Amino acid sequence: MPYSIYVPNRYILNVSTLGPFQNATSLHNDRIGLFHGDITTLSVDAIVNAANLLLLGGGGVDGAIHRAAGPKLLRECRTLHGCPTGSAKITNAYDLPCKKVIHAVGPIYNVNDPADSEIALRGCYRSSLELAVRHNLKTIAFSAISTGVYRYPTADAAHVACDTVREFMDSNDGPKLDKVIFVTFEEKDARSYNLLLP
Ligand code: APR
Repeated sequence: MPYSIYVPNRYILNVSTLGPFQNATSLHNDRIGLFHGDITTLSVDAIVNAANLLLLGGGGVDGAIHRAAGPKLLRECRTLHGCPTGSAKITNAYDLPCKKVIHAVGPIYNVNDPADSEIALRGCYRSSLELAVRHNLKTIAFSAISTGVYRYPTADAAHVACDTVREFMDSNDGPKLDKVIFVTFEEKDARSYNLLLP
């Protein structure tokens, strides 16, 4: 019986799957979720921030996470000495309801080399999933990395995100995760993910 994660006044809905998950087994159906709202409210094991190379905060979801976590998050981030694009690093979550924050550094979309941007974006999702497994975290919620300030086309990014997560779920480490949630905040993101994960 698929379960949902309680969020104040909301439940994560399990989703049937099309797109990259169209041939998914029930294994995937039960473990992929969509949430439309503020990622800082989720009481999951880890939330994935869309950070920048310096890992010192910023606007968008990065700003929201730092505001909700409090100043200790920035203090820990300072000890990480940045993070390369296409990778991720993990910190505690402090005043947030989740246990850990994974800071992924997405690509600034390069219209002249979309393939390079896709490789970096896949790296963000894969690195975040690997960090979650390494830290024995079971539920992880992703913000829509690079689709705001970094201008990655939302529909393309959603497809890359879903395909990378499906690949990971099919790997040996896949069963170590109970739930992967895609968080949509703006309508543009919700529309793209609803098409892939109706
Ligand atoms: N909860 C969930 N998602 C959110 C929230 C929130 N509270 N706030 C914004 N978002 C969504 C945006 O709607 C967008 O879809 O996060 C996605 C990523 O957008 P950005 O936050 O702009 O991140 P990104 O495009 O990866 O650019 C990263 O922006 O904020 C700076 O420090 C950050 O320099 C880095 C750059």
